[in-house]
Formats: sequence, C-alpha cells, structure tokens
Amino acid sequence: MLSSLPLSLLFSALFQFQKVSASGASYTVSIPPAAPTNAIEVPADFFGFGYETAFLPHFDNAFSENMVNAIGSRMSKPLIIRIGGTSGDLVKVDLEQKEPAICVKGPSCPLSSQDTFTLGKAYFEVFKKFPNASMTIQAPMGDGMEMNNTMAYVRNAWQNLGHDRVAAIALGNEPNYYSWNAEEYVRHALEVESNITKEFNLQGEEARIFELGDIANDAAVSGNKYDITQVFDDHIDQNSQGKFAAEHYYQLNKNLAVYNEANLQQHVMNHTAILEHLASYEKSMQAVHQHHANLSFVLSEVGSVIGGGPTNFSGGFGAAIWAADFHLAAMARGIKRVSNTQRPEASHAFWIPDNSGPKTGRPVVQGIFPAAPFVADFVGKDASLGKVVELGVNGQGLFTAYAMYGLHSEKIERVALVNLQQWDASSKTTRGNKTVTLSVGNGVKSAVIRRLHADQGWSALGYDLGGAQENVTWAGEQWTYAVDQGMGHFPTGSMEQESVAVNGTVKVSVPDTEAVIVFFE
Ligand SMILES: *[C@@H]1O[C@H](CO)[C@@H](O)[C@H](O)[C@H]1NC(C)=O
Ligand SMILES: *[C@@H]1O[C@H](CO)[C@@H](O)[C@H](O)[C@H]1NC(C)=O
Ligand SMILES: *[C@@H]1O[C@H](CO)[C@@H](O)[C@H](O)[C@H]1NC(C)=O
Ligand SMILES: *[C@@H]1O[C@H](CO)[C@@H](O)[C@H](O)[C@H]1NC(C)=O
Ligand SMILES: *[C@@H]1O[C@H](CO)[C@@H](O)[C@H](O)[C@H]1NC(C)=O
Ligand SMILES: *[C@@H]1O[C@H](CO)[C@@H](O)[C@H](O)[C@H]1NC(C)=O
Ligand SMILES: *[C@@H]1O[C@H](CO)[C@@H](O)[C@H](O)[C@H]1NC(C)=O
Ligand SMILES: *[C@@H]1O[C@H](CO)[C@@H](O)[C@H](O)[C@H]1NC(C)=O
Ligand SMILES: *[C@@H]1O[C@H](CO)[C@@H](O)[C@H](O)[C@H]1NC(C)=O
Repeated sequence: MLSSLPLSLLFSALFQFQKVSASGASYTVSIPPAAPTNAIEVPADFFGFGYETAFLPHFDNAFSENMVNAIGSRMSKPLIIRIGGTSGDLVKVDLEQKEPAICVKGPSCPLSSQDTFTLGKAYFEVFKKFPNASMTIQAPMGDGMEMNNTMAYVRNAWQNLGHDRVAAIALGNEPNYYSWNAEEYVRHALEVESNITKEFNLQGEEARIFELGDIANDAAVSGNKYDITQVFDDHIDQNSQGKFAAEHYYQLNKNLAVYNEANLQQHVMNHTAILEHLASYEKSMQAVHQHHANLSFVLSEVGSVIGGGPTNFSGGFGAAIWAADFHLAAMARGIKRVSNTQRPEASHAFWIPDNSGPKTGRPVVQGIFPAAPFVADFVGKDASLGKVVELGVNGQGLFTAYAMYGLHSEKIERVALVNLQQWDASSKTTRGNKTVTLSVGNGVKSAVIRRLHADQGWSALGYDLGGAQENVTWAGEQWTYAVDQGMGHFPTGSMEQESVAVNGTVKVSVPDTEAVIVFFE
C-alpha cells in the first residue's frame, strides 16, 4: 500500500529515472510512457469550494450557482462545497427569526468569521440550492455550545440538503483552538457523533460520514495545543465512522510587514515554499493512515493568504499560478481534496458573491478564479480521470511539471507545466519564457496546448476588478460578473488552443507567470 510507505522516498525514487536537464531557459523532461508505480489516483471530486458558515446566504444567487457549475460541469462527481469555519461554532439557531442570518456580536459584525450570528429558517433553505453540488456540514461545537443547538443546526441543514447530498459532517472546527485539551475534545466530539448517528438512524456504511480533525493551519508545525495525531491517538475514530480526516492550509499563514512583489514570489509563487509547507501535512497524513489506512486525508479549508495583503497579492493572477501549482503538488502527494474557502470580504476568495464585500461593494470574479477550471481539467472527467506524478524539473522552485496517466490505459494523457517566475507588465521588461522539450515516446501522435493566461502578469485582477487590460483566461475562456454572470465567455469568440504534431518529442514555450496543460491525443 502506498499509504504505508514514506512518500518522500517514493518521490526521490521517481527523480532517479527522470532524465532532466536545465540549461538557461530550457528544460528537457522525459516522461515515462507508462504510469510509474507510484502514480497516485486522483479523485473525481478533488477540487472543491468552501463557504464560511455564517455567510452561506450571501451565496444564494444565480451568479454563485453559475460559478459552481462552471467547475462542477467539468467534473464527473458532484463538486463538494464545505459549509464551515470559525463562525460555524458560534451560530445560534432560531427558527422563528425571519432573516436568514443576523450578526449579534463580535469583533467586526457582520464581516468576520469571528462574529456571532443567529440563523433563521431562511438560512437553512439555502442548503436546497446548488443542486448539482454536495456539501459538508459542520456540527457546531466548542466552548459554550449547547447540544440542542448543535443538533438543531445539523438537523435543519441535513433535512434541506437531503441525505444524498451530505458529503460529510465535521465535528466542530479547529478544535485545537478550543479551551479543551485533545482528550476532552474527543469526548465531546464522540457525543455529538453518537447523537447524530441516533437522530438519523445511521447504520453500516451510511454511518461512516464524519470528517475528523479540521485542525487549524499548520498545527503539525506550530504545535498549536495539539495536532491531528493527538486526536487520533485519543481515539477520535474509535467507532470507525470517519470518512475524511481534515486539516486547514493557508500558503502564507502569518502577517507580513509589507505585501509586495518580492514577498509574493518568496512566500506564495514558490514551489519550494509550497513543498516546505506541505511536508507537515504529509506527516499528518501518514499518522492518520497508521490509524486507518483507508481514511481520505483532505484539506478542508484552503487559501493563499490568511491575513492581509491587497487583492493583487492574495486573489490576483499571481495567486492563480500559486493555486495551479499547489493543487497539483497536493494531489501528487495523495491529498484527496482541496476546499477553497470564501467569505465576501476575503481577498483570497475566488469570487465575491454580492454587494456585501466592503472591498468591492459589488459582485466580482477575482483574478485567481481561472485556476479552478485549470485544476478541474487536469483532474479530468469520466474516462479521462487518471493517476498523477510530479516530474522532476530543476526549476529552482519556480518551474514544475506533472504528468497524468489514464486510470486504465496507463498511458500518458496530459502534462501540466507551471512557470512560477514572476512577471508583470508594470515592470516594462520583456516577458521571459521557458522552452520545455517533452519526450513522450512513440505512442503519441499529436497534442493540444491550453493556457492559463493574463497579458498583465501577476497583478491582473480579472476583468471585473481590473478592466479589459487585466483579463485572466483559461484556454481563452473568461469568467466575469459583468459580462456573463459567471457563465463564462470567450473574449475572442472561441476557445484558444494550439494543435501540435508529436513525433517522440514536443516543444512547449511557457511564458513567465503562466501555466499550460498539454493534452495528448
Ligand atoms: C445543474 O447542471 C446542469 C448540467 O450541467 C445544468 O444544466 C443546470 O443548470 C444545473 N443546475 C443548477 C441549478 O445550476
Ligand atoms: C445527546 O446524547 C446524550 C447521551 O449521549 C443525551 O443525554 C442527550 O439527550 C442527547 N442530546 C440530544 C440533543 O440529542
Ligand atoms: C437550547 O436550550 C436552551 C436552554 O437550555 C434554550 O435557551 C435554547 O433556545 C435552545 N436552543 C435551541 C436551538 O433549541
Ligand atoms: C522560495 O522558498 C524557499 C524556501 O522557503 C526560499 O529558500 C527561496 O529563497 C524562495 N525563493 C524565492 C525566489 O524567493
Ligand atoms: C481498504 O479499502 C480496500 C479497497 O476498497 C478494502 O479492500 C479494505 O478492506 C479496506 N481496509 C480497511 C482497513 O478498511
Ligand atoms: C522566449 O524567449 C526567448 C528569449 O529568451 C525569445 O527569443 C523567444 O521569442 C520567446 N518565445 C516566445 C514564444 O515568447
Ligand atoms: C498591487 O496593489 C497595491 C494596492 O492596491 C498597489 O499599491 C500596487 O501598485 C499593485 N501592484 C501592481 C504591480 O499592480
Ligand atoms: C477582455 O475581456 C473583455 C470582456 O470580454 C473584452 O471585451 C476585451 O476585448 C478583452 N480584452 C483583451 C485585451 O483581450
Ligand atoms: C521529429 O521531427 C523533426 C522535424 O519536424 C525532426 O527533426 C526529428 O528528427 C523528428 N524526430 C523523430 C524522433 O522522428
């Protein structure tokens, strides 16, 4: 079993048979024609979104439905939306209340995830929306939370969602911030698990529905009270009702004095930094698998930047290049899902759903968004689902390559190339590029190349925020609120892709701050 072997060993084994050379601005990458034994099967529902609990009603609109469908329609399983977060442990259910959600207290009512909201019947009606998606629900827990309120939230969410669309139920959120120690948390969590199991009469395989952990970003490193290993050692999965084990991930999880170009390159658009940060999650995943070899390890709350920073830093096209590389690096290490979290005023959000975001005051799609269809298309759909490996490229942490093989054919289907080298039009310099020669063997005759592109470079905010000079596209398609309400459109009138003949090798040029997928035919 893969999960029982140290992944780092498998990766170094892979590097040994990759013939890789880097000279100036060109790389040669030999792609094993058949799937290497360490290639990892990628779940059809790898890509996900997340809405912070109290802000769910803000996403109750056609625009958000369109945004979710834009990605869900590229997937062969329902996209999973995680409804959860810090606010999910503070909410109070009041079915008599007319409004969906009212902020009653908190540090920046009604904007922050640390504010307390009361939820009315109309809040729970929103669980009927997004019929093509599934959702994970969070059972509210933590200091001062009463069991009747926990159960009222889960009951009303479940009834409106319908059993089939409940992807999982999380037992609280970031429990390593509760006043309880790990053992006390586990005791409370198992009581909630037991009450939910009884309430919905869950039996057999149906009872395996809980998401365990939801540990705060980087607990494994920062030792934030306790980490996921501790809750598993304290027998959180003693009833074998765990479906997912989860942790939270922000690429930049501290505040910086300045959010400038150099810091974006150093902390975010940087594969070495991504791998350094992912290493602690690989440890968590191994610890979880020692307890339960089959438990899927997911990142249930993910963002580029947890704290401040302007939108061109956290939610612009530079962040899209980060997201492209991060998702592929995560899937190649056996992580089973990434939920990209959102709240109307978060700068790292993929879209701002309504006019409540104080930074914009209107609905917008952010520059990071086209990373979502890029990742979904790399994962593939139906017969094109596959197994992934990261390919070794000596790109100094600023250039990466990933290969996807057919699940059954074992043949090379797609290669993704990500050029994280920063470039922006405001620099008035010529945009550089890397020329990659992919050596693919004789089984492949032709390929098409599609690009994740912005003329402006890393600071592009997308059409809604930046205007026509800051368009961001995937294969020539753009998603905006202003032009298409999230349906997607082609500014040049049609999809953009380049067809190339392949005779053993194929040459691809990847401009700085761009990512491409080569689809082999
Ligand atoms: C669900 O998906 C189908 C097929 O992609 C689409 O036609 C429909 O509009 C979607 N439904 C909603 C409510 O978004
Ligand atoms: C939860 O379960 C405990 C026993 O484990 C029981 O005393 C309590 O009534 C239950 N509460 C609810 C709201 O179901
Ligand atoms: C839970 O019980 C408390 C009394 O202990 C009550 O004030 C509160 O309204 C109840 N909450 C719900 C959601 O029923
Ligand atoms: C990328 O991150 C690594 C590890 O944190 C760091 O050593 C390196 O300097 C960073 N690269 C750039 C270009 O900032
Ligand atoms: C793990 O999954 C495999 C394949 O689905 C199954 O055969 C095996 O029994 C499972 N093992 C455990 C411990 O659940
Ligand atoms: C790539 O960069 C080289 C200079 O390093 C330049 O000559 C070439 O035209 C560029 N190619 C593309 C496709 O931009
Ligand atoms: C990024 O955004 C900040 C804040 O709006 C701005 O000061 C800076 O000039 C922008 N950088 C670029 C390269 O556009
Ligand atoms: C950017 O997108 C807008 C909206 O589709 C379009 O009108 C405009 O021509 C595009 N600009 C460029 C430079 O492609
Ligand atoms: C592939 O085609 C190029 C020219 O189009 C030629 O130079 C090269 O020798 C060919 N390679 C093989 C392996 O046939």
